[in-house]
Amino acid sequence: MTPARSWLYVPAHDERKIAKARTAGADAVILDLEDGTPADRKEIARDLVARELADRPGPTRYWVRINAVEPGTGWEADVDAAHAAAGLVIAKVSRADQVRAVHERAGERELAPIVTENAAGVLAMAETLTAAPTVRVAFWGSEDLQADLGARAVRDDAGDLLDVFRVVRSLFLIHCAAAGVAAVDTPCLDIRDLDAVATDSRAAYLLGFAGKQVIHPAHVPNVNAGFLPTDAEVAAARAVLAAFGDRDGGAYRVAGGMVDQPHLRSAKAVLARATEAGATP
Ligand code: COA
Ligand code: MG
Repeated sequence: MTPARSWLYVPAHDERKIAKARTAGADAVILDLEDGTPADRKEIARDLVARELADRPGPTRYWVRINAVEPGTGWEADVDAAHAAAGLVIAKVSRADQVRAVHERAGERELAPIVTENAAGVLAMAETLTAAPTVRVAFWGSEDLQADLGARAVRDDAGDLLDVFRVVRSLFLIHCAAAGVAAVDTPCLDIRDLDAVATDSRAAYLLGFAGKQVIHPAHVPNVNAGFLPTDAEVAAARAVLAAFGDRDGGAYRVAGGMVDQPHLRSAKAVLARATEAGATP
């Protein structure tokens, strides 16, 4: 199954938003038991999570974000409340033993660690992304990292990521590729700027991200669209396949340029994503 493109966070104590998320069109909904839920509502939120997961037909996959694997956060109760979830997003991962502890409790449920929420996490990605066989997708985020670094901003006035966050994003992509894990991008936080969501999603897709975290339902359509190959990209990929025919290797001229094995590999990936998302006949 292709990794989800849009991953919509919903504060898990908020029944109104949970209801709204059902029809938001997100590939995945993340019921958030961590920072989206106030400390004094965690118990109520766990009950709502269990109830929401009990009967959830339809194409949207339901994940639950659990609290950091540290003493006293209640992460064990989070895992148990989410027993019917497709997977668990693990907040603030900085050590491999945190991922292994959740894996032991969660069994075969998929795990998606957020691995850049603090400086220690950034330095441990090689270990955390390979800590359990059920880690097939991972997230990076910039906001908690900003707080951990003591940085005053994440983006410049034009909305572009500042240097240190660009470096972390690139390292994250490289570590994910090396670990064979799908990479999910940080969310857009400006609720009204739908153009930025479209531009950001497209740029992330072109870099190799599989999807993007989302904090508002209004962002979902632009994220879903941004992570689909365009008609022109599908046509270009088909041209590469046609040039190879049934030959296994070699270099060819396509649209005035040279293509060989890496281009064939990329073209197949483009067509696979387009086909699985139902975007191409
Ligand atoms: N999931 C589901 N529904 C949402 C939603 C979300 N993430 N964000 C907003 N909505 C709903 C609202 O409840 C509202 O529904 P209504 O028309 O039935 O009242 C509608 O969408 C419009 O919302 P809007 O007024 O634009 O936003 P808001 O001011 O109510 O909420 C936030 C703004 C930021 C608090 C909200 O978007 C949110 O909670 N986002 C997720 C936060 C989160 O989980 N953070 C942790 C991970 S980074
Ligand atoms: Mg956070």
